[in-house]
Amino acid sequence: MQTLLESLNEKFSQTEDVIGRGDDGSGGDSSDSIPSRSKELKKLRSLLKSKGRQLTGDSLYIAGTPGTGKSLTVKTLLRNISKNKDWMTVYINCMDLKDPSNIYIEIYKKLKKTKSTTKSKDKCFEGIKEIVTKDKMIFLVLDEVDFLISKYSSILYDLYECPYIKDSKLFLIGIANTLDLVYKCLPTLAKKGIEPTVIEFKAYTSEQICEIIKYRIEQTISDLGIEDEGFSDKIIEPDTLNFLCAKVAANGDIRKALQIVRRMITEKFESLGLDQDNNDDECTISFEGEHLFTLDDLSQIISDTFDNQTVQNIKTLPVQAKVILLSVFRTKQNLKISTLYKAYISVCKSVYLSVLSLTEFGDVLNSITPTGLMDIIGNDEQIVIHFSTEDIKEGLSNQHIFQNLLDTL
Ligand SMILES: Nc1ncnc2c1ncn2[C@@H]1O[C@H](COP(=O)(O)OP(=O)(O)O)[C@@H](O)[C@H]1O
Ligand SMILES: [Mg+2]
Repeated sequence: MQTLLESLNEKFSQTEDVIGRGDDGSGGDSSDSIPSRSKELKKLRSLLKSKGRQLTGDSLYIAGTPGTGKSLTVKTLLRNISKNKDWMTVYINCMDLKDPSNIYIEIYKKLKKTKSTTKSKDKCFEGIKEIVTKDKMIFLVLDEVDFLISKYSSILYDLYECPYIKDSKLFLIGIANTLDLVYKCLPTLAKKGIEPTVIEFKAYTSEQICEIIKYRIEQTISDLGIEDEGFSDKIIEPDTLNFLCAKVAANGDIRKALQIVRRMITEKFESLGLDQDNNDDECTISFEGEHLFTLDDLSQIISDTFDNQTVQNIKTLPVQAKVILLSVFRTKQNLKISTLYKAYISVCKSVYLSVLSLTEFGDVLNSITPTGLMDIIGNDEQIVIHFSTEDIKEGLSNQHIFQNLLDTL
């Protein structure tokens, strides 16, 4: 059991090596494959390879919300492309640059395979234009270009010209997290006579998320050398998996799904009282019941992940602070510290809690304000609240002592 949970945890923490090797339907070419992105991978691979063979420059613009597998797909593609020794691949994540305006220098250094250069930005740009017209095909990926677009758009536009200068053998791929940028940049690029092909990575559907999760489970089982024979289907109960995938699909960010599965694993670890150092080397893994993870393991995590932030903030407050929030709805007059304190005393009495002194009450109140649930304004200590009765009802729903009071709200 320990081995299984540890291996699952490791697999669900991996960011890049989740790809499998094998035929992905690309015509007998034994290549990397990515679950739920095989179509995109295949399309990109054939486009890049054909340009590479023709030794002609071109450009792409890949856009899609975070967590849709853009980086994973393009990195996998680059790994495949780099097997051809006549082609050069360069990957730069623009977010990693301390100063994005140094991007020309960064690209120049990578193309020259050198660690430093004394050349100015402009000289580097000249250098890039010269290098891309030599005989080697170059595939250059600029990931997370969003920042460049918003602040240094002219740099990006200049770079997008490079694949189209005479004899250029540069294939430029820009990756952005927002589609808005496509609409913002494309007209400007079109005006310059450059129109990169746009590929949109759509948010994952519930079915695709299921496929990705199942794929990681299957890989874990196979890494452990266990004969699958339906074993991987016993890890997460089908209805539980469907519920998880439907929830995550609402925003399409696969990272949420991976994060939730990791938390289920950690909590299972804790609930079974397993010790990290207590290694059971046996791979004969069995568990009681039908499935390792069921709805019981998932529901709390789902609500923690997707409930609104206000409710989360209420849930994490200490009990006296919760009483103060409840007292807001018991305050008859204008909401000030003094009137709230009166209501607070009556609420404490009704739930048989000890009453804090006014000073202590003030301290707890001050500890609530950083959560954004309420503000205290001006000298007359007016209180402004930023939560609703619904938030309070939900936030305190599992606290029995408040049940009667909540029913009256
Ligand atoms: N189709 C997929 N199969 C398996 N894992 C994936 C898939 N798509 C994304 N991931 C994983 O989700 C995380 C986010 O993916 P990433 O490619 O960085 O998204 P993006 O670049 O679109 O923000 C990474 O850990 C990645 O390994
Ligand atoms: Mg990315």
